[in-house]
Amino acid sequence: MALIDLIREKAGPEPIKFGLVLGSGLGHIADAVDGVSIDYADLPGFPHTGVSGHNPNLVIGTLEGVRVAVLGGRMHYYEKGEADVMRVPIEVLRDLGADAIIATNAAGICNPNGQPGDIMMLTDHINFAGANPLIGEATDKRFVDMRDAYDPEMRTALIAAAKAANVQMSQGVYAWFSGPSFESPAEIRAIRRMGADAVGMSTVPEVILARFFGMKAAAISVITNMAAGMSNETLSHEHTKKMAPIGAAKLEKVLRGFLLQHSG
Ligand code: HPA
Repeated sequence: MALIDLIREKAGPEPIKFGLVLGSGLGHIADAVDGVSIDYADLPGFPHTGVSGHNPNLVIGTLEGVRVAVLGGRMHYYEKGEADVMRVPIEVLRDLGADAIIATNAAGICNPNGQPGDIMMLTDHINFAGANPLIGEATDKRFVDMRDAYDPEMRTALIAAAKAANVQMSQGVYAWFSGPSFESPAEIRAIRRMGADAVGMSTVPEVILARFFGMKAAAISVITNMAAGMSNETLSHEHTKKMAPIGAAKLEKVLRGFLLQHSG
């Protein structure tokens, strides 16, 4: 059976409106969805997420009155060196009917005005990893325009949702580093000069894939730490997982408010 038919058989045929991709320590947002949960292991072509803090389930159902599909776990470029590791899940979101994806992630902040516990909506990105999920794609469709990759209308709606929920949400440029080692302080100094506000190891390939598949995209970072060299803290995945829930509560309010605007 084709993958999409298998998913529809379990979750029902109604199309979804949005696809959500959850980052490190943010997987619990999938629990809020009233619907069906399918283990990635039961979905041929889905990656096997190896990173702790992720919840490798595709959850399809209703959140704030809107039908959504949530990718509770993502795989990263650094796991196997495959930039297109999320291609099948992102394509599935499109095939399920999504107009748009909202990606979330845990990130370090290199803008000195930010701090751990903040959330930041992405306005643009810098692909500092240099990899691209469309390398190897044979058609001319691979030449994807990246202007307004972070959809202006969705950004306006997310800002309105944050205001309505009384949540402070900054806006800025996210720089994608491959990881899995954290950045060096010199890399952070360099990327700050290049215009980045936050740094992380995900999201950019998924946004490129979403645009490739004809979907709109938006993304929000949950800031778990000052970027390397900007505080005395030792960076670790443990620290990311410990700090993510602080911003995650804000993120959840914004996502719920955004979805409520699109219900009915
Ligand atoms: N760098 C890269 N990825 C991250 C960070 C960081 O400082 N914090 C959480 N994810």
